[in-house]
Amino acid sequence: MTRPPPILLKVQNLGKRFGGFAAVSGLSFELEAGRIMGLVGPNGAGKTTTFNLISGFLKPTTGTVEFQSKNITQMRPDDISRKGLVRTFQLNKLFSNLTVEENIRNGCHQFEKGGIKRFLMRPPISERRALEDRATKILQMVKLEKLKGQRAEDLSYGDQKLLGIGIALATDPKLLMLDEPFAGMNNTETERCASLIRQIVDNGTTIFLVDHNMRAIMGICDQVIVLNFGEKIAEGEPQKIQSDPNVIACYLGRKSYA
Ligand SMILES: Nc1ncnc2c1ncn2[C@@H]1O[C@H](COP(=O)(O)OP(=O)(O)OP(=O)(O)O)[C@@H](O)[C@H]1O
Ligand SMILES: [Mg+2]
Repeated sequence: MTRPPPILLKVQNLGKRFGGFAAVSGLSFELEAGRIMGLVGPNGAGKTTTFNLISGFLKPTTGTVEFQSKNITQMRPDDISRKGLVRTFQLNKLFSNLTVEENIRNGCHQFEKGGIKRFLMRPPISERRALEDRATKILQMVKLEKLKGQRAEDLSYGDQKLLGIGIALATDPKLLMLDEPFAGMNNTETERCASLIRQIVDNGTTIFLVDHNMRAIMGICDQVIVLNFGEKIAEGEPQKIQSDPNVIACYLGRKSYA
């Protein structure tokens, strides 16, 4: 008998109030290792707030977050990311005046023991080689090797988003959370990004992603959670979600749900 994959992330009764307003309430779900989980919902539904709560950028009003069976609810974002739970932001955070390669290398150095300080002290050549190898591997994965000498700000919007994912990958995460990776991408860029996400999962990283591109989400995810006004209204496989009456009602009249 094969064992079920381990639960990587367990969220229980997660809630966040901003003053009198409940941005997220009573959210519970589990994410198995090796999966692609999608989080969708209309604008303002609480998706980014959920990401901020899980990754430690916001402290919840209620509930707990467990990552690899450890309670991380009160941990700082940088400690959480060092444990292997890494997220990207809805608006990319790049060093726009550095090259593509420098951005990736910087991500790699930050992950090393002792961080950038240790790197500046000139670590042994073997360590530097290992870092360079990893940077090269990531550049190949995000398919930006040919553009590695270009400044980040000169890249197309789609390539900047791929670079953002590459920087997150530099830390070798166990769980990668992507906030709107497909936003602003044309069809070709979306397909490139979707195949990158599949490759990331094949390499052993679990994915949790938010996006408004329903076609891409339904095509790529194993499981989807739907939020509306901060509450989970549906969860399941894409096919089930697409025919769920609550979900259809929530998106009724919205062209994005194509
Ligand atoms: N720091 C904050 N203070 C007050 N209200 C906030 C704060 N952050 C988010 N909100 C509110 O919480 C609600 C959920 O916001 P959130 O950014 O999580 O939505 P979202 O689902 O990511 O939307 P979008 O699809 O537009 O990115 C919104 O009404 C938003 O205005
Ligand atoms: Mg958002």
